[in-house]
Amino acid sequence: MEAIILAGGFGTRLRPLTYTRAKSLLPIMNTPMITYLLDMLPKEVDTVILAVNYRKNQIESYLQSLNLDKKIIVNDEPEPLGTGGAVKFAEKHLSDRFFVLNSDIICSLDLTKIMKFHGKMDAVGTISLWPVDNVSEFGVADVKDDGNITGFVEKPKPENAPSNLINAGAYLLESKVLDYIETGKLISMEKEIFPQIINDTHRFYGYQFKGHWMDIGRITSYLKIHEFLLDKQNKKNHIGLKCDNQGTLEKSVLGKNVQIGKNTKIKHSIILDHATIEDHCQLDHCVIGEHATVSNHNDLDYVVLGDNEVLSEQNNKENEIIWTQPVPEGYPKKQIGNVIGG
Ligand code: GTP
Repeated sequence: MEAIILAGGFGTRLRPLTYTRAKSLLPIMNTPMITYLLDMLPKEVDTVILAVNYRKNQIESYLQSLNLDKKIIVNDEPEPLGTGGAVKFAEKHLSDRFFVLNSDIICSLDLTKIMKFHGKMDAVGTISLWPVDNVSEFGVADVKDDGNITGFVEKPKPENAPSNLINAGAYLLESKVLDYIETGKLISMEKEIFPQIINDTHRFYGYQFKGHWMDIGRITSYLKIHEFLLDKQNKKNHIGLKCDNQGTLEKSVLGKNVQIGKNTKIKHSIILDHATIEDHCQLDHCVIGEHATVSNHNDLDYVVLGDNEVLSEQNNKENEIIWTQPVPEGYPKKQIGNVIGG
């Protein structure tokens, strides 16, 4: 059985971190995000199809370094085809039933349970569902008590929402779904294909699970997942190998070989590999990129400093994204499309 991992997005909402790396390789507790997804795959999945485009070589090298006991197929899209187009592009590698998984999700979904549910309901497609408070930011599922989905309402006002359940980014599909997708076009699975399948077959289901779920689409959710995992693992901080920390840390994560100077306080922040924060700095809810330097006497709140950037001494910054290097060629100026949330 195959699992398609959708990992071809630019991750524009996570720029500048995604100017230099694929979103799915962004470290979470110092481990590339895609690893959490690979760990979720049930034994029935013997083939992983990587639907890639932007920064494909980085993703391919990382997967090869893992020596997984599964066949890896790198399916390189000539151009981004969207979540639907990417699935159609993988058609020649697919058999009768397959998973499709967004690569930017961290959750407690048990894929074996979704397989059992899908079989029991004789579904054409089953998607994972997760309850949210802020329905007006999402496509919300209209679901019957038995899990049958009759439609989606895009970004409803809370009073008009059919439920509080949204697509959690993992699907199990029968191959007949492929007949609904046109070849070689930018197509959204969620917005264009699922509604047609619902109308035609009435055998489209939602599987609600418990535990945790987070879509790591934005800097705020990138910070939040770390706080969540630190709490879950009962840790005050998480510190990588070969760090030299002479400052104070609170609910923060340091990658490997990070240097923290004297009288520096770091709270609720993520400092990636080989970064340096010099003396007398205060950082709160910041992300500091790989090999980046924050010079002495900086006071930063909700600041993202891209990889290899150097911030000069004595700044007081709030809510800023700092990137002074050229933007990679072909990187879109704005979000191309989004599947979860706005
Ligand atoms: P934003 O630009 O910030 O919206 O991020 P994104 O490009 O990753 O888009 P989004 O978060 O909506 O994507 C959800 C999942 O689908 C992620 O795992 C993406 O890597 C993947 N994805 C999005 N667009 C494409 C595409 O055109 N091709 C492939 N193969 N995957 C895609």
